[in-house]
Amino acid sequence: MIEYRGVTKSFGDKEVLKGVDLVVPEGQIFFVLGKTGAGKTVMIRLLVGLLSPDAGQVLVDGEDVSRFTEDEFQSVRRKCGMVFQLPTLFDSMNVFENVAFGLRRLGRYREEEIEEKVCDALEKVELSRELAPRRTGELSFGEQKRVGLARTLVLSPRYLLYDEPTTGLDPFTAGRITALIREVNHKLGATSIVVSHDLESMAEIADRVGLLWDGRFRFLGTVDEFMRTDDPAAVEFRRSFAGGGK
Ligand SMILES: Nc1ncnc2c1ncn2[C@@H]1O[C@H](COP(=O)(O)OP(=O)(O)OP(=O)(O)O)[C@@H](O)[C@H]1O
Ligand SMILES: [Mg+2]
Repeated sequence: MIEYRGVTKSFGDKEVLKGVDLVVPEGQIFFVLGKTGAGKTVMIRLLVGLLSPDAGQVLVDGEDVSRFTEDEFQSVRRKCGMVFQLPTLFDSMNVFENVAFGLRRLGRYREEEIEEKVCDALEKVELSRELAPRRTGELSFGEQKRVGLARTLVLSPRYLLYDEPTTGLDPFTAGRITALIREVNHKLGATSIVVSHDLESMAEIADRVGLLWDGRFRFLGTVDEFMRTDDPAAVEFRRSFAGGGK
């Protein structure tokens, strides 16, 4: 289970998170909605120790990771796989090596096992094996996003954190990625937090939704509740982003 308790975070005099409270139960897919600059990426960076909160707690399986040392974070990072907003691949390595990177770093798998796991991850994200020897700089944006996803999936994390997984993709590819997020959540028995503006994707797969607004979750509920609430912020959000607006 992932839990935020009264989490605040400022940069200089800019208060980005003003008291975030959230519980994401095991097995669920939770969507974080919010305008640009609302603090969505900051929220997930707090979970993997890329940032630390000014106050409050961030709990992963009941452990407050917000005060972890760099060493202690290694175990959290194995549990929590992050799929970044922009694919952050190693241009100089080919697709195979990018996906294999995290496995190699663990140092506990034989080459055949690595090969099998990488192929399996590429298959999961529907990338042809023929791409394995290609350098990532030569791939399309959509292909790069899939490689980024494969690189995270290959480590079989229990928690998956997706930052805008469908933004910038055509509707067909966005739909495939959405389906994949659901499949992976079920197959791995994982729990997912998805930061997204994509209301179509949300409607398809979210168990629960939160609208991050002015530093807090202004709305928390099911997709149905979100689509029906007359909360003015939610209404504005629905209006501006209806149709998967990017
Ligand atoms: N390391 C940092 N140093 C200074 N300011 C930061 C830092 N990280 C984030 N911010 C600021 O915090 C605010 C929230 O950023 P964040 O990246 O979480 O937004 P977001 O909700 O993910 O937006 P988007 O939808 O555009 O990705 C922004 O104003 C951003 O400039
Ligand atoms: Mg962001």
